Amino acid sequence: SSRIPMVAGNWKMNFDHLEATAFVQRFARDLRARRFDFAKCEVALFPSFTSLRSMQVLVESDNLKIRYGAQTVSVTSQGAFTGDVSADMIARLGCSYVIVGHSERRKYHPEDDANIVDQVRAVLAAGMQPILCVGESLEERRKGIELDFAVGQVHDVTRDLSDAEATRLIIAYEPVWAIGTGLVATPQSAQDAARAFREDLRATFDGQVAGTVRVLYGGSVTSRNAIELIEEPDVDGFLIGGAALHVDELTKICMET
Ligand code: G3H
Repeated sequence: SSRIPMVAGNWKMNFDHLEATAFVQRFARDLRARRFDFAKCEVALFPSFTSLRSMQVLVESDNLKIRYGAQTVSVTSQGAFTGDVSADMIARLGCSYVIVGHSERRKYHPEDDANIVDQVRAVLAAGMQPILCVGESLEERRKGIELDFAVGQVHDVTRDLSDAEATRLIIAYEPVWAIGTGLVATPQSAQDAARAFREDLRATFDGQVAGTVRVLYGGSVTSRNAIELIEEPDVDGFLIGGAALHVDELTKICMET
């Protein structure tokens, strides 16, 4: 397809700013040694807020092509919201992306659909791209309603967006039962979900939106299962948790994507 694939490493609550810096230096060196082509695959890392400034300094000083972003964002632009970080603050740290609505955020924080729509809007307004995470739990899968559920999660967010907004969205299909469990979705079910999202986008927006939006798969991705997943026509890359904490493993996945 015309979509550039993407490997996104979500570090969750791992690595302080010194560890993050050391990781990125080794990772960049390894990719360079293997002649990795950033024009053919985007690479992005998602550290904690506390590491974003270090990322910016390193990426700018070493002229790295690795991109980065935040793991969540406030829906408000400023004011008395103790502990929150605004989209503009994140954008000024050189971030390209923000992960929105990760299942861990939906579970441990009050992030519901209304809040997630507002996060998507805040990220877009600040000139960055949201990576919208959706995916069914085991309960929905057992009932056989996993596709309707995940498409519904996407639709609940996208129905309020304009064509111009929707075209900048990235969707990450992350079945909750696959996250951190070692149980990876089959390439066929990742493809089925990705295609279902695209069909919903096609029904909701202008022609080119459905063809432009990238759909990533996330959930126990490793260098051993990435190859067959990326062969699926509607799977445009990965959102990686555990495997993104190991330089060798993440480098391998980048080479395979
Ligand atoms: O954001 C990443 C996902 O939650 C996947 O995590 O690769 O450790 O299963 P995992």
